[in-house]
Order: sequence, then structure tokens, then C-alpha cells
Amino acid sequence: MKTLSRFFSTIAILLLFPFGSLAQGPENVIPVPSEIRLGKGTYVWQDAPDIRIRRVKGMAPESYELKVDEKGVTIKYSDNAGEFYALQTLKQMTCDGKIKTIACCEISDSPRFPYRGLHFDVSRHFRSIDFLKKQIDAMAMFKMNRMHIHLTDAAGWRMQIDAYPRLTEFGAWRPQETWKEWWNGDRLYAEEGSEGAYGGYYTKEELRELVEYARERYIEIIPEIEMPGHSEEVLAAYPELSCAGEPYRQGEMCIGNEKVFTFIENVLTEVMEVFPSEFIHIGGDEANKEHWKKCPKCQQRMKEEGLADVDELQSYMIRRVSRFVESKGRRIIGWDEILDGGLAAGATVMSWRGTQGGIDAMEMGHDVIMTPGRYCYLDHAQDAPFKEPESIGGYLPLDSVYVYDPVEPSMPAEKLHHLLGIQGNLWAEYIPADGHAEYMYWPRAMAIAETGWSRPENKDADDFRRRALSALDHLKGEGYNVFDLENEYGERKLAQTGL
Ligand code: ACM
Repeated sequence: MKTLSRFFSTIAILLLFPFGSLAQGPENVIPVPSEIRLGKGTYVWQDAPDIRIRRVKGMAPESYELKVDEKGVTIKYSDNAGEFYALQTLKQMTCDGKIKTIACCEISDSPRFPYRGLHFDVSRHFRSIDFLKKQIDAMAMFKMNRMHIHLTDAAGWRMQIDAYPRLTEFGAWRPQETWKEWWNGDRLYAEEGSEGAYGGYYTKEELRELVEYARERYIEIIPEIEMPGHSEEVLAAYPELSCAGEPYRQGEMCIGNEKVFTFIENVLTEVMEVFPSEFIHIGGDEANKEHWKKCPKCQQRMKEEGLADVDELQSYMIRRVSRFVESKGRRIIGWDEILDGGLAAGATVMSWRGTQGGIDAMEMGHDVIMTPGRYCYLDHAQDAPFKEPESIGGYLPLDSVYVYDPVEPSMPAEKLHHLLGIQGNLWAEYIPADGHAEYMYWPRAMAIAETGWSRPENKDADDFRRRALSALDHLKGEGYNVFDLENEYGERKLAQTGL
């Protein structure tokens, strides 16, 4: 059952990943496991603990069983991720081996959804690679498995693209440091290295290293390249891709221009060389389609392709890009606006404007990730706005994230397999500093993690809060800047003011 080398590699993994909660048994574990049977007695953790570990055929993906008896710990697991998650649970139970006496118990655990994601907006404010790695560590602890990086937007392009160097020489920099000042000013860009230029981008080498760091923790990084809207920085760097042919005129690429498709295919080819993810996110949200109505090239495209309106024009673009991505063996995700004008075959929908877009897409046989703003937008203030840092507005306390259930009564049962999971999004317009972003994620990302992993019948808001307080103590000890849940104003009337 156990080989010596397996034993030592397990210990090495335990030492490698610096996490665990303060619990002596499974009572503090986040996300709450599927089944816990408490036993009698304890196991006293030895300097050379007795862990028997083996792979078992036929178990569900990512699942594991963990048994603690007076003699030691036995782990059965389905696949490498299942083994990793068993060790995360054990590390939470033993606080990384700091707690020497653990309660005898048996745990059977498997995820409710295969997709448990967290979103990072590195365009509005550039984030360091170290920051991203630190969040990956915490995500792994809570068994999250997708990191969605919003790499491009008006506020800055963040990935080195060899074929289009102006994207990062110019499109990645701006004169103002905060998004707010930039947005309220002239929204100009700046040359890299010019005085006061703020921004940044990741080299391919840095991104490859990040992908590998995440992969070792069973997290897939999903890159997002926005199109056709939210693309002011692209059009400032390469004005010929806009309908006007000039910079600073619009945020949407010209769909009538073949050069735009050449650009997208070249960019996505480089993106797919760096990111091996199953999914490539191509945005698709909030395009202002007015320019296309007046653009002769877009009008010509609509005529030639028999497109009835500008929604169909955008849909034409998304379908074409989707076919390109699929030809490389990948799949696209788009925000739910990609439903407008007709959904591309094989596209996965990220439902953010509510859940109806996701439900409609499921009914059409498409995969869906739920991230409705009402529950999953972590850029809203998490407590009484007057005591919180400035935010985009709204109020989304931990409890409100936690109560959300992605499965709704109106969803057809036979389509539920299309519901891949849930994601928390943190747009960063009002979040200049890495530490501030961290504060917005934790603890609310733990609620997303538990909703994505745990059985709904095992969820309990009060118990979750107790466990979250314990996990926050641990994160604080590890140097995370977390929200002070203990002193939350919560549902008191004051929390609702100043929205
Ligand atoms: C979005 O929040 N615009 C996807």
C-alpha cells in the first residue's frame, strides 16, 4: 500500500505548501467535506507520521477519502488532484503539522462542480506575479481550481505579444496611476519608460512560470483577451484596427476589417503557446455597437454575410474566433453578451448580468459558469461602505455571497451537467494596491470555494462563518491582508448607508 518514497514525497508536499487551519479535527475545514464520520480517540502526530496513501480506480475525479485512526492516516484518492486535496484537508486539520493531536475520523469528499474559479483584473491595476502566486496558494488551500486572468482592457494590455510590440510598449502604460484619475481625465496612454508612466506587463517567461506554479497546485489559468469592446488600448497602439482608423475614437475593433481577424488570430496563437488551458476567454461584453452602424467596412461585412443587425455582426466575429480557437483544440468562454445575435457553437457562457443568460445557454446545450453580479462580484463593498475603502459601489457581505446556489429550480434537470460551476470576480477599477485586492478576496472567495465544492445540504451560514474566522486567522498569520470579519457591521442598518 505505501512505499517509502511515496511517504517521503507526501511529507515533502506537506512542507511545500504552507497552509493549514487551526483545527484538531475536520470541524474547521473549508470547503466543508461531503461526509464526515467522527470516531473515538486521537492520533498523535509523530515526527515521522504514518500516512498510508494509494490511488483507487473508479472514484470520482478530484475525490478522496481520508481516515484517521489511532495508528495513523490512510488516504485513498482518485487522481493527482484528489491526492492533493486530501493533503489540503489534512493540512487544514493539523495546521501544517503544528497541531500534533488529531481526532479520529473518516472523511469522504468530492467536488459538487468541476469549475471553481476566481477572477483577477490585472488591467485596471497591474498586479505583481508574487501577488498572483500568493493568491494561488490560498485558492489551492480551499480547493479552487481555475484562475481567470483578465489580461487586457482599456486601462492597459498586460501580456507580451511578439508580433505586436506596441501593445506593451504603449498600450500597457498610462500617465495616471489610479484608474479613477485616468478614467476621469483624457484616458491617454504613455510610452514605456517615459516620465511618470504607470502600468506594466508580464513577459511570456513570467507567465509560463505562473502557469506552472498554478499547475502544481491543480489550478488552471484561463487567460482573457477582450474583444471586440473594452479595446481602447489596442486601438491606441494599432489605430488601423478601429473603424475610424484613428486612436482615441472608440473602444471597439472594426469587424469589417480583415486586419482585425489577422490581429486576433496572431495574438491568440501566442496566448495559446503560453497558456495550455482548455478554455480561452475572449470577453465579448459591453461593446458599444454604434460605430459599426456608421462604418462602411462593417456595413459591407453585414451585407456580404447577410447579417441583420450589429448584434449579429458581433456574433459573426465571436463565431469566427471560436472556430479558430477550436481549430487549435481549445474552447472559448465569453461573457453572456455572446448570446446576443446568436451563440457560437461550442461556446461556454459566463453568466454575469444575472443568471438568465446562463440558463438560456444551458437550454441550448452550452456549458455555463455562473458568476452573477448580485452574488459573485467581489468589487462591491463587503461591509458598511463608510468604513470600507472606496469601491465601485454596492454591498456584498460574506453572507450574501454564501447564500447563492448556482442550481435554480427553473433549470432543466437534464441540462444540469452543462452547469460547470461558479466563479468570484474582482474588477479592480477602485483597487490600486495588491493588499487591497487581497482584502476584497478573503474571506468572500472562501464562500465561492465552498459553494463550488460542497454539497448544498452540508452548507450552513453560521458554521461557515465560524470556520471562516478560523481560516482568516490562519491567513493573517501567513501575511495576508484580510477583511476583519470579527468586527463586521454586517446587516446592521449602518451597513446599508452610503451605497
Ligand atoms: C463584466 O462585468 N463586464 C463582465
